Amino acid sequence: MRSHLLNDTTTEHYRRSVTEGVERVAAKLAATDRPFTGVTVDDLAPRIDAIDLDQPLRDTTAVLDELEDVYLRDAVYFHHPRYLAHLNCPVVIPAVLGEAVLSAVNSSLDTWDQSAGGTLIERKLIDWTAARIGLGPAADGVFTSGGTQSNLQALLLAREETKTQDLAKLRVFASEVSHFSVQKSAKLLGLGPEAVVAVPVDHDKRMQTVALAHELERCAEVGLVPMAVVATAGTTDFGSIDPLPEIAGLCEQYGAWMHVDAAYGCGLLASLKYRHRIDGIERADSVTVDYHKSFFQPVSSSAVLVRDAATLRHATYHAEYLNPRRMVTERIPNQVDKSLQTTRRFDALKLWMTLRVMGADGIGALFDEVCDLAAEGWKLLAADPRFDVVVEPSLSTLVFRYIPAAVTDPAEIDRANLYARKALFASGDAVVAGTKVAGRHYLKFTLLNPETTTADITAVLDLIAGHAEQYLGESLDRAC
Ligand SMILES: Cc1ncc(COP(=O)(O)O)c(C=O)c1O
Repeated sequence: MRSHLLNDTTTEHYRRSVTEGVERVAAKLAATDRPFTGVTVDDLAPRIDAIDLDQPLRDTTAVLDELEDVYLRDAVYFHHPRYLAHLNCPVVIPAVLGEAVLSAVNSSLDTWDQSAGGTLIERKLIDWTAARIGLGPAADGVFTSGGTQSNLQALLLAREETKTQDLAKLRVFASEVSHFSVQKSAKLLGLGPEAVVAVPVDHDKRMQTVALAHELERCAEVGLVPMAVVATAGTTDFGSIDPLPEIAGLCEQYGAWMHVDAAYGCGLLASLKYRHRIDGIERADSVTVDYHKSFFQPVSSSAVLVRDAATLRHATYHAEYLNPRRMVTERIPNQVDKSLQTTRRFDALKLWMTLRVMGADGIGALFDEVCDLAAEGWKLLAADPRFDVVVEPSLSTLVFRYIPAAVTDPAEIDRANLYARKALFASGDAVVAGTKVAGRHYLKFTLLNPETTTADITAVLDLIAGHAEQYLGESLDRAC
């Protein structure tokens, strides 16, 4: 069994094993002509159930054959141009190389004595990101597992900075289309169910600052504490960007912590054309960035940044066995002092490899391409009488709904759209997402693949229309 331990004596085994795995994936990617096979849970579950984990196959080739059957064949492939659903991007090769290196070396970024150079690489990337945001000389931050954790940590710092003991008095303001991790965080932080105030959005799905001002004023009048305003720079559904400068002004006026959830919109930090769309982000107290959404990084790769490094102390605990207090005076950089996690992946390496190989402009150009594609897609949808499209994209998302000429019942239109999404998924021809707008079912394209073309968009719209029509035809037959 020792032959499986990766060390100085097993490098040949390591090379062979990993190469064999890479060959399989490469062959799979080359041969995949659809984003999904349409496999169902009922098809797949028995195959996985049948595997006895106490009966190892021993042989790597046999295990990869088995993996083909239980995973690779039916996986959802985000690199495919017709994967148009969730905020999960195709990945760039330098980052995948970084992933291979980081798991083999297996640094843990909690303490310097487990990561050495890794700690400094992560810190440099944090400084780089903070500088791109414009957070100023006292900024700092840390890599996290994702936007959910980044939002949680930001709101933890905001809560602690209020110095309010009575948690029932704290209020967090976020737009009605902000990410649900704001509510989850509030719950985890011990705030009450009414703590998160949903601020209405305008026609473009951006937070209405007049309504925010009104809510903040009301909060002050009744003696509640405005703990934080969460501005979203790239909402999950619409990619809409809240008016950051106005929100910053209101946060200053009412003494609220300004958190910008740029999990999605952070791609604009590297953009060559659209960086101005997130102007005002530099006034934030904290920012969430998900490199695994718009920097073409593999999951996970995310960070939380803060304007004032000192605020990260709210996540600091010392333990003799790990990061004794004396290490601070010895100037030993232990990233665990800033993180909610202890053992932590060296995810930063993926971004490092990406920037060193492609440069930030390379990433920004790819993100610009998907924003441009979304603008083209919007024109197609707006000109197509078969569809109702919700907002002109600020990033790369399109929310729309099939509206058959002959049907007026909105519930029947809902069912046709739901059916179309399901049928498309089952066919594997394309994968699209869904959401609700004003109580009605809509479909969603999240365009994160520069390889997707307007021809793909047109083809998928035709497929959707075809499935919806089929549903409506059958529904008419059923009624007769
Ligand atoms: C705006 C926004 N914030 C936060 C998140 C959560 O990020 P993660 O899935 O990386 O935890 C998402 C995820 O889609 C998001 O869209």
